[in-house]
Amino acid sequence: AELRSATEELLQKAAAADPARRPSLALVPTMGALHEGHAALMAAARAENDVVTASVFVNPLQFDDPADLERYPRTLDADLELLGRAGVDLVFAPAEEEVYPGGAPLVRLSAGTMGTRWEGASRPGHFDGVLTVVGKLFHYAAPPVPARFRAYFGQKDAQQVALIRRMVADLNFPVEITAVPIVRAADGLAESSRNRFLDAGQRQAALILSTALRQLRERAAAGQPLDLAAAVELIRSQPGVDLDYFEVVDPRTLEPLETSAPLEGEALALLAARVGPVRLIDNEVLR
Ligand code: PAJ
Repeated sequence: AELRSATEELLQKAAAADPARRPSLALVPTMGALHEGHAALMAAARAENDVVTASVFVNPLQFDDPADLERYPRTLDADLELLGRAGVDLVFAPAEEEVYPGGAPLVRLSAGTMGTRWEGASRPGHFDGVLTVVGKLFHYAAPPVPARFRAYFGQKDAQQVALIRRMVADLNFPVEITAVPIVRAADGLAESSRNRFLDAGQRQAALILSTALRQLRERAAAGQPLDLAAAVELIRSQPGVDLDYFEVVDPRTLEPLETSAPLEGEALALLAARVGPVRLIDNEVLR
């Protein structure tokens, strides 16, 4: 209720300042432990909208491993500072009891077969939990007065953003989805809240992932055959990196594509690997 009235007030102010135009509201959902990747989402939302809401909620429904949920970093004070610097107007950081008052919900969203492959194959129920909470967050944050409603997600979680687009299309959620490109550290590693669990040696080993993806991107850009097998071999030869999957897929359906001939149209190279204590995911758009 508090979020609703604060949103209404800010949207009405924006509407009054420019009556000829419908104001816009952005939602940026996060689980906190914010880093440069999240900051890029906030910056895109800030640049394109009158009012920006960020949510911070570690969603127990999307953790299949209780130990992973337990050790998920919680850094709300630092998060609020980053959100303030990013010019976010409203922060929605509900308690678990507010989002799931009766415990885990009986009725949930299902990601279907697209949610059972790639990340879903090793994390049963993960994407059902993501879609369920994102659907709820869309309801909490929705504009209470006439306004455009946009939500921002990172391309880092390519399967997540593909599934959210499908959810919005399949279930008519009144929200426009924007995907923001992956933010990488200077060494190439994709920014992630879990990178803090890597020691220096593990981090160095993990760089093979972005290196292999970059090679695929360069071959695709040059119109050469991708040679996915060589890229897989490169990663497999790196001690300390345990590759789970590495595939070239259709960016919308996530179905595998033929890689023996040069690509027609856009493709997505998608991988996951375990490095020391963490599972890392990364991807590149291939054109
Ligand atoms: P979280 O992991 O906190 O990520 C929040 C958003 O930041 C996601 O859309 C994610 O793709 C984006 N992001 C993370 N690292 C990024 C990077 N290096 N570059 C660009 N974007 C990046 O994803 C979730 O939370 C949850 O599943 C959520 C959608 C909030 C539902 O609980």
